[in-house]
Amino acid sequence: SAPRIAIVGATGAVGGTLIDLIERRGLRYRAVELVASARSAGAELTVDGRSYPVHAVEDFDFSTVDLAFFSAGTEASEKWVPVATAAGAVVIDNTIAFRMDPDTPLVVPQVNAHELDRRPVSGVIANPNCSTIPLVRVLRGIEERWGVRQAVVSTYQAASGLGHPGVDELKESSRAALDHPGEEYPGKEFVPSLAFNVIPKIDRFLDTGFTLEEQKMLQESRKILGLPHLDVTTTCVRVPVVNGHSEAVWIECQAPVDRAELVEVIAALPEVTVHDRESPREFPTPATVKDPDRVHVGRIRVNPNNPRAFWLWVVADNLTIGAALNAIQIAEELIARGTL
Ligand code: A2P
Repeated sequence: SAPRIAIVGATGAVGGTLIDLIERRGLRYRAVELVASARSAGAELTVDGRSYPVHAVEDFDFSTVDLAFFSAGTEASEKWVPVATAAGAVVIDNTIAFRMDPDTPLVVPQVNAHELDRRPVSGVIANPNCSTIPLVRVLRGIEERWGVRQAVVSTYQAASGLGHPGVDELKESSRAALDHPGEEYPGKEFVPSLAFNVIPKIDRFLDTGFTLEEQKMLQESRKILGLPHLDVTTTCVRVPVVNGHSEAVWIECQAPVDRAELVEVIAALPEVTVHDRESPREFPTPATVKDPDRVHVGRIRVNPNNPRAFWLWVVADNLTIGAALNAIQIAEELIARGTL
């Protein structure tokens, strides 16, 4: 029967997208509980036309639900996911807290749904990083047909990756930059200010010189694709876009690639739209793509000097494809398999 579900982080940017997707996709549930920090206790949110109170996580009894979506930040997951699983709930976690745990499957349903055949040992299924998800959804098809020798990726990541606070600060700092040119903006989410700027640092720096975001893309891609030696190297950049991540992807394969076949292979991937199929001059952008439930690919160019290698331009809604939709599709697979 339909599960009882909780959304932890319901008041956040991903939480709001989860609620929207539950409505749009008609996810069936027996009960829904909305959970956030104590700051939001007493607030009300609407799901499927009904108003629900928001509970503080401290006061919430996880034994009343079968499935809990966590999208309240890594610290909240570290503290409360073990409480939820001990109470018997299966957790779909959107943070980095459990992604590399060997007992926790890291799942992109279009790539490795078979990981959901059994209930995970840890009780947790991890949702990957928002830039990793569209990348592996494309890499999977390339790997199967040509074998991937190396992928070099530059990301162009939107402010909504940092939730409502990120979006609010981008808007405020942009207004301040126009109203008070030359004045330094005291940013909290983005330092230096993201207004009319790009920042080649997402998450913290590691001793390797890479950032944690860049390391996530490598480690998570390897785990999801089951390719422990896959060579993915990235530069992750925050750009002053409200929502929608983009990636310039260079892939070198084991064998020469024909563009027409490449277009067909990518277009045949589940829920992927190729924009330059008929006209190579068409391309997706975060502001113009119409369907947030699909991965958008354009600028498909085979390198004339090395026909084993090519470029792609990938755009995917980070709140949807990169977070909430992936989590909902994991839930749909669990429900279909009866593994909840
Ligand atoms: P709240 O609105 O009560 O602060 P966003 O990514 O848009 O910033 O949203 C983060 C979400 O996670 C919000 O729903 C927020 O609730 C919630 N949250 C943040 N910290 C905690 C915490 N320590 N415990 C529970 N929920 C939290």
